[in-house]
Amino acid sequence: MTRQSIAVMVSGRGTNLAAILEAANKGHCPVDVRVVISNKVDAPALQIARDAGVDTILFIDPKKYPNRSSYDQACVEVIQKHACHWVVLAGYMRILSSLFVSHFEHRLINIHPALLPSFAGADGVGDALSYGVKFSGCTVHLVSEQVDEGAILAQAVVPVMNDDTVESLHQRIHQKEYELYPETLRCLVEKGFRLDGRRVIWNS
Ligand code: GRF
Repeated sequence: MTRQSIAVMVSGRGTNLAAILEAANKGHCPVDVRVVISNKVDAPALQIARDAGVDTILFIDPKKYPNRSSYDQACVEVIQKHACHWVVLAGYMRILSSLFVSHFEHRLINIHPALLPSFAGADGVGDALSYGVKFSGCTVHLVSEQVDEGAILAQAVVPVMNDDTVESLHQRIHQKEYELYPETLRCLVEKGFRLDGRRVIWNS
C-alpha cells in the first residue's frame, strides 16, 4: 500500500498525534509522520513524538521571528525539505498566514471539536455545551484563510448528556477524534476527492 508522508503541527497534549501514530503503526492509516513541529517548547506532544521515534521533531520559537509570515515561511521550508505531502494540524493553536495556507492548498487539514459550521473558534466544546445542543462532535476540514471555515472532509457525532461538563464532553469528542482523524487521512491517501463548490466529493 502506498504511504504518504505527513507533517503534524501541534501546540498541546498531542493525543490526536498519538492516535495518528498508533493507527499508522498498526497499518490502519497509510501515512509516515515524518515531521512534528510545535510552537510551544513544553508541549507534551513533543514527548509523544520522541517516544514514537519520529525523525524530525522541532520546536520553532515564534519569538525568533519578526512576524507571522516569516515564522510560517520557516515552517514551510522544514515541511518542504522533508517532502511531506499532507500538513496535519492537531491542536495547533496559532493562526496561519495566507502564505502558509496558500502554499499547502488542499493539502492542509485540521480537526475541530464541534460540528462546523456551528461553534467555530477556540472554545467549540464550551460554546456548544452552553448553547444547549443535544449533539456535538468533531469535524475534519481543509484549512482556508478564515478560521474553521474550510471545506468539510468528515464529521462524527457525539450526544450531549444532561450531566456533561466541558471536560466530560471534550473527553467523549476526543474519543471520536482518535478514530475520525486517522480514518480521514486514510481516505485522503487511498481515495482522494474533488471539490464541488464547498462540497467534498470522495472518489469511490
Ligand atoms: C482537539 O480537541 C482538537 O479538536 C482541537 O484541539 C484539540 C487537540 O487535542 N483542534 P490534542 O492536543 O490532540 O490532545
